[in-house]
Amino acid sequence: MSRETCLHLNDKDRAFLDGHFGPAEKLAMEVVVDVGRAFEAERLIPITSAHILGHYGSLHDAGIELLERLAADGGACRVPTTVDPSSVDFARANAFRVSSDYVSRQDRLRRAVERLGVTPSWSCIPYHSMNVPRFGQNIAWAESSAVVYANSVIGARTNRTPFGLDICAAITGRIPYSGLYRKKNRVATILFDVQVQQLSDLDYHTLGAIVGSRSGSAVPAIRGIPTSVTNDQLKTFGAAAASSGSVALFHIMGVTPEARLQGRFSGCESMQRMVVTRDDLQEMERRISTADPAAPVDMVTLGCPLLSVEELKQVFARMGGRQVRKDIHFWIYLSQETYDLAVPMGLIGALEAAGIWFSTGTCATISPVKVWGFSHVMTNSAKCALVVPSEHNVRISYRDIDTCILTATEAI
Ligand code: F3S
Repeated sequence: MSRETCLHLNDKDRAFLDGHFGPAEKLAMEVVVDVGRAFEAERLIPITSAHILGHYGSLHDAGIELLERLAADGGACRVPTTVDPSSVDFARANAFRVSSDYVSRQDRLRRAVERLGVTPSWSCIPYHSMNVPRFGQNIAWAESSAVVYANSVIGARTNRTPFGLDICAAITGRIPYSGLYRKKNRVATILFDVQVQQLSDLDYHTLGAIVGSRSGSAVPAIRGIPTSVTNDQLKTFGAAAASSGSVALFHIMGVTPEARLQGRFSGCESMQRMVVTRDDLQEMERRISTADPAAPVDMVTLGCPLLSVEELKQVFARMGGRQVRKDIHFWIYLSQETYDLAVPMGLIGALEAAGIWFSTGTCATISPVKVWGFSHVMTNSAKCALVVPSEHNVRISYRDIDTCILTATEAI
């Protein structure tokens, strides 16, 4: 049997291919079908939401061309669709020294995305409010940190949808039935036994980096995490696991929905098992940090993934009225939604008065911060620490939030 005959299409799928819904829908379905055949999917399935990439820093001119073509041909999202952070904070482009050419290219992407009917969330944490899937729903999301959260913490189902397929799935409302849409592929195949007392916020980032780097293509189960773990800790754990490896789904015994009943893991003793100790966490912290500790820090950044209001409240409390040093840039990245909530709470005004710069709808990794010439960046985010050096020529100090704040504010 040829690959072509393996993929079953229903009458509506064929109507898309025949152009009955318009040229953009026809192209979008051709992409979805081609991917389905490449992955030997047996059929397409409906999705309830999409989350797409829209940042120029990764999509370049090819991304503009695809999105503009789909928009010009009348394409429109058939399911609720949000978009990941932009490469430009349009309200602060001048202050952040973004070139006008770069701004205009991101603006073309922005306009195309909006013409396609995407909710302009410009956020990698859409699951906080703007795009909240339910347990068991099939969705087509891009952005590895959002994908791993949706799969693991919510129990929705998505692969790491690449750019191109994401918007085509949004326009057709269909996705190939493959990978993590299939129940059998969601079963844990490697077990991590965490033998560490009192995990700190930074430990969750670091643990994620360990799990991601050791899991390969396996779905990890993690044992030893307290049920008091917060959603923000799960967010940072997942982001690190997804960026240090290819993890798109994890199960935390007694915590995440597909592992709430620990009895389901009665077969876990036969899985490959790895123990994680405090020594492993400390070793990974050392590996993530690449800077000479004696070298001066020129940028401190928080907000990867973008900070929640609760995390911002922690920053405010920990600042304790201190001022940012004149020789250090302290940047925090938020969604516009979080920023708008934090303004009337007094958090933004107080922290800006202390010398912190806020940027909304973008982040350090996907925006052109190169122009600042930073050489030593300090962050509390394992994902940021792992990814930023591949985008910008910098050394990283990976530290907890208290050290980040102390470094940014201590007297010269
Ligand atoms: Fe989000 Fe940017 Fe980090 S998109 S997960 S803040 S690299």
